[in-house]
Amino acid sequence: MENQEIRTFGRRHGKKLSARKQTLLDTVLPAFLPKNIKNAGNLILEIGFGNGEHVRDLAIRNPESIIIGAEPFMNGVAALLSAMTCESTNAILPEYKNIRIWPDDVRKLLHDSDFLFNEIWVLHPDPWPKARHEKRRLLNSDFLKLLGTKLSKNGQIIIGTDHYEYFDWITEQIKKTALHASFPPLSVIHTRYAEKNMAGTTAPKYMILTNQ
Ligand SMILES: C[S@@+](CC[C@H](N)C(=O)[O-])C[C@H]1O[C@@H](n2cnc3c(N)ncnc32)[C@H](O)[C@@H]1O
Repeated sequence: MENQEIRTFGRRHGKKLSARKQTLLDTVLPAFLPKNIKNAGNLILEIGFGNGEHVRDLAIRNPESIIIGAEPFMNGVAALLSAMTCESTNAILPEYKNIRIWPDDVRKLLHDSDFLFNEIWVLHPDPWPKARHEKRRLLNSDFLKLLGTKLSKNGQIIIGTDHYEYFDWITEQIKKTALHASFPPLSVIHTRYAEKNMAGTTAPKYMILTNQ
């Protein structure tokens, strides 16, 4: 798989999970894997969902769509499952029934499936600011080209980051693709990384990419 050997994320496991979260990973996650999607219809993908705040927002705002969230950090996957389920019964809350979770590198999902997405979201991708880590940046031209092939007709890729240097770098990468970029102001819920704003900038910047 192209570039698969270059890791674009940090840890897969963080601090020890609570007994409930471990149970959710063991018993609830298998039913919510993308392979269980039947009659795909409208599909939305969020790449690197962190703790899943925005995946849940997408699920509520798009009840007729299936939302696939991809995240290899298992503590984040467990945090999303915890927020999607009833604390006493572990049953999925009705408003989150349309969420599916890919608990791994999104590139594997994209290479091994033929899903086409109406929207692909990437919020606060890891900026890998050190020059020697630049090769770990996910949103390079090859990956952006791959995303372009995964859009349905009139589909959109929406990228947001408060790391302005990475934003400009992505803009340069887009020039090596056939994607069309626009830069509208967007109102998007604040994820954990937006709250942290480690780049110290004033607000996230957004871009929307289409196949023209
Ligand atoms: C800086 S965090 C942002 C998390 C979340 N979007 C937010 O705004 O709070 C970037 C996330 O992207 C995930 N990530 C990095 N490379 C990935 C890949 N190849 N596939 C899926 N997720 C990836 C990381 O594990 C990490 O959780």
